[in-house]
Amino acid sequence: MSEVFDSIAYKYDKTFTKTAVGKAQRISVWNYLKKKTLHEKYILELNCGTCEDAVFFAENGANILATDISAEMLNFCKLKIKPEFKDKIKLQKLDILDISELKSSGKFDYVFSNFGGINCVSIDSLIKFSSEIKKNIKPEGSIIMVIMSKFCLWEILYYSFKLDFKTAFRRFLNKKISVKIGDNEIDTYYYSPKKIAKAFKDYQIETKMPVNFAVPPSYLNSFFERHKKTLEFLIKIDKILGKLKLFAIFSDHFLIELKLKQE
Ligand SMILES: C[S@@+](CC[C@H](N)C(=O)[O-])C[C@H]1O[C@@H](n2cnc3c(N)ncnc32)[C@H](O)[C@@H]1O
Repeated sequence: MSEVFDSIAYKYDKTFTKTAVGKAQRISVWNYLKKKTLHEKYILELNCGTCEDAVFFAENGANILATDISAEMLNFCKLKIKPEFKDKIKLQKLDILDISELKSSGKFDYVFSNFGGINCVSIDSLIKFSSEIKKNIKPEGSIIMVIMSKFCLWEILYYSFKLDFKTAFRRFLNKKISVKIGDNEIDTYYYSPKKIAKAFKDYQIETKMPVNFAVPPSYLNSFFERHKKTLEFLIKIDKILGKLKLFAIFSDHFLIELKLKQE
């Protein structure tokens, strides 16, 4: 698995982070995070990729332990982190499945996972993770995850139009799906907010919201690079729909924030 992400790390920012759709998707997550107090908070980031979010957290005054399964992704983090943030962002190569190997100097205010890292983890491993991570979270802390959903309306319409019904409805299947990453394929698991809430049974849902119902999945970026005005319009729609929990099920990703139930 780590080799697959190692092999695409060099082009990850060019093909996602810096694209029009990639930026629009991330801004809706940042708009949510900006409502939180981040200053002096201690954040564990899972599947941090090239540290775009870790840098955002540092710019907002937080301290971050940014982790990823891919050593190459972490190498690109090293290039992105400016000298003034070197003390605020620490890096560790870590598989979500090996969370007990976390090298942390204290408990976290937030555990954060953006854009589908959780979709690389099976439900049984998620249940194990939800239990093991408990001891690393402050009592008032929370887990914030942005996860690819089971019913993405854009995907259904786009691939149905191309008469590729297998791909159009791939997320519905209650089994792992092979998804192409670069020249390889990885096992991917699509989740509903309900399934996540069930896996994290010792937690309660603080927030559940759509992330990009109107903004399309990133594989449609090339069209929207040429139609920026349309994308701007879709971003405006998402600003309204983002407040409606119902749309979480039908968007490309949903954001879920979970807090430990107090005993
Ligand atoms: C789509 S990228 C998202 C990266 C980043 N969070 C972002 O917002 O740009 C998925 C990331 O998950 C990482 N990943 C996949 N499976 C993982 C696992 N089991 N443990 C830790 N990281 C994993 C990959 O290396 C990759 O960097």
